[in-house]
Amino acid sequence: MSSLVYLNGEYLPLQEAKVSVTDRGFLFGDGVYEVIPCYNGRPFRLEHHLMRLAESLRALGIKKPLSNEAWREIIERLTLQRPGEEQSIYLQITRGNSGKRDPGIPRNLTPTVFAMSQPVVYPDPATFNNGVTATTHDDSRWHHCNIKAITLLANILLRKEAVDQGSADAILVRDGHATEGATSNLFIVDKGIIITPPESDQLLPGVTRNLVLELAQAHELPFREEDIPIALLRHADEVWLTSSTREVMAVVTLDGKQVGNGAPGPIYQRIRNYYTDFKAILQADTTT
Ligand code: PDD
Repeated sequence: MSSLVYLNGEYLPLQEAKVSVTDRGFLFGDGVYEVIPCYNGRPFRLEHHLMRLAESLRALGIKKPLSNEAWREIIERLTLQRPGEEQSIYLQITRGNSGKRDPGIPRNLTPTVFAMSQPVVYPDPATFNNGVTATTHDDSRWHHCNIKAITLLANILLRKEAVDQGSADAILVRDGHATEGATSNLFIVDKGIIITPPESDQLLPGVTRNLVLELAQAHELPFREEDIPIALLRHADEVWLTSSTREVMAVVTLDGKQVGNGAPGPIYQRIRNYYTDFKAILQADTTT
């Protein structure tokens, strides 16, 4: 039996969930989304994802269609369908269906709200232990990368370019600075200091990014939120990428050259362990 998804107040089999061809999400990519990892059937950092969702909606002027409590109930119902499976929740809200193609933004549309659970395959232990390859690419995206918009064509093409070159992700460069990955945030370690670019309209305020900064602070690892000029990236001792579905991964080869000594560095190892411990504590705690 196919799994149920949530669409506009109803739970339906995936094949029966349909939206109109005049939905603004379909015509213009006029909508936002979230991807929320679930460990042991429980959404991870849910309140952070819902906060960012609210911020993306606010930025596009789309009314928040559901309360956080309503989201919680939907997510619980969806995750229950995959007991014991690794899964993530996908949420999408578009501005809605105006019944015609009109670039002008109509007032008072009812947003289209969709959610589903998907199996997720995390990188295997060897990938976490051995690191991955990345390549740098000019950032061809727009100037509102802080909004988690469904309009992902540039990200997808950039990631494809990188994957075609054997990379796990593209590291994006704008005005001589490395900002983030096509589907991840970027960290480097320079002389023992963790550096990640500050939040701005050039990058997504990643939930994983912010957790890594919290963990660095809690464990007294020095860090700075600072721009990363491309020359600094090339000479970094460590390079990491973070995202909800890939957690924290070390980049050991960048544009065909070895990063540091070509293996995941000591600060990565510490952050990775803190991250794993943090997940374990949260899974064990059934009160939240
Ligand atoms: N993407 N930057 C970009 C451009 C991203 O697409 C993502 C994640 C991140 C990391 O954000 P977070 O830590 O909140 O997952 C940064 C998701 C996983 C996706 O589109 O599938």
